[in-house]
Amino acid sequence: MNKIRFATVGLGRMGRGHVNEILGADPSRFELVAVCDNTPERLENLPANWGTQYTKYASLDEVLKDDRIDLVTLAVRHLDHVPLAKRVLEAGKYCMTEKPIATSVAEMKDLIACAEKHPGKLFLRHNRRFEPEFTKAKELMDSGLIGEVQYITINRSVGYCRRNDWMTMTEFYGGLLTNWGPHMLDHALQFLESPVVDIWADVRHSISIGDGDDLYKILLKAANGRLAEVQVTGANTLPGRELEIIGTRGTIAMEHGAKRLHVRMVDPSIPFKPLKPHPENPPLQYGNFDETLTFVDADYDPAPCQMTDVWKHCADTILNGVPYPIKYEEALEVVRITEEVFRKSGFQPMQKFLK
Ligand SMILES: NC(=O)c1ccc[n+]([C@@H]2O[C@H](COP(=O)([O-])OP(=O)(O)OC[C@H]3O[C@@H](n4cnc5c(N)ncnc54)[C@H](O)[C@@H]3O)[C@@H](O)[C@H]2O)c1
Repeated sequence: MNKIRFATVGLGRMGRGHVNEILGADPSRFELVAVCDNTPERLENLPANWGTQYTKYASLDEVLKDDRIDLVTLAVRHLDHVPLAKRVLEAGKYCMTEKPIATSVAEMKDLIACAEKHPGKLFLRHNRRFEPEFTKAKELMDSGLIGEVQYITINRSVGYCRRNDWMTMTEFYGGLLTNWGPHMLDHALQFLESPVVDIWADVRHSISIGDGDDLYKILLKAANGRLAEVQVTGANTLPGRELEIIGTRGTIAMEHGAKRLHVRMVDPSIPFKPLKPHPENPPLQYGNFDETLTFVDADYDPAPCQMTDVWKHCADTILNGVPYPIKYEEALEVVRITEEVFRKSGFQPMQKFLK
């Protein structure tokens, strides 16, 4: 195979994005063969740049019967992700499924079990793994520039909006935690770099029209001692610093909307001398009277990647056998933490999803 013939199922806001992203990101390795939506008008007035060569289907059944199709991308409602992804895999096709990947640990394990029967066919769309600013922050953190990492603060504001679609209704597993949580928890786990051993959470509904949450704060303590705070809000009119990573020799920070990372670190040429604290009366000053540190400031552009790289990785895996970077166990951990957060916070409308 040198070209992936794909179909997108669900032509709402994101499904149209799938087709546009794929055709924009990697046109030489993908070919649009079909689109599908079970709402008839969603199959009308489709973008002209998609061409006219593709077939329109009203059901997934028809897509699965079409032997031309290699890959099915799913952009349907949350509760349909696992049931539909399993049907795609069982039909022997590749499947890219959206976040939230699953609505419970049990469901995620069921999906993984199905994927294991169809090796290499399932792709998870945690596309914000390829956010340029996140990627650069991780690269800076891993370089050791700020010393040993202590606290990671992810403070994502998605605008102030009394949002009113199905994605705010818990009947459909809606809310901001199931919407943005998969992305931000995935970032947190990548920064923590070791298993989560303790979770604290507050989840609440503040202004959205549905009964789902639109404001939450989560603390994740990892086995290596790092602590990540994840706050996501759809109700903040004055968003602050979006990212802060405090290490023993400096801090990486990004202000809301800055799209540029700032680091202030102890001059890398200054080693920390082994010093002892003084029990006697200090001189009439606070701080450290045995050393004077100087600091270096630096700004960094985001990494040269795009969230749409998720499709390039998918193509690299299908066509060239390169391992896909988003692992099933990583998504399982995101689902586990989401479930645990709903449990620990006691956020009432979502308790119905907890077994
Ligand atoms: N990864 C991301 O960054 C990202 C961003 C936005 C949305 N999403 C995800 O994409 C999914 C869809 O979100 P959306 O905003 O596009 O929803 P939407 O309501 O705008 O669109 C869903 C579409 O799917 C169709 N549909 C539903 N069930 C179907 C079925 N069984 N067969 C065929 N068509 C069906 C509906 O008619 C509708 O057109 C959500 O789960 C959401 O979490 C992901």
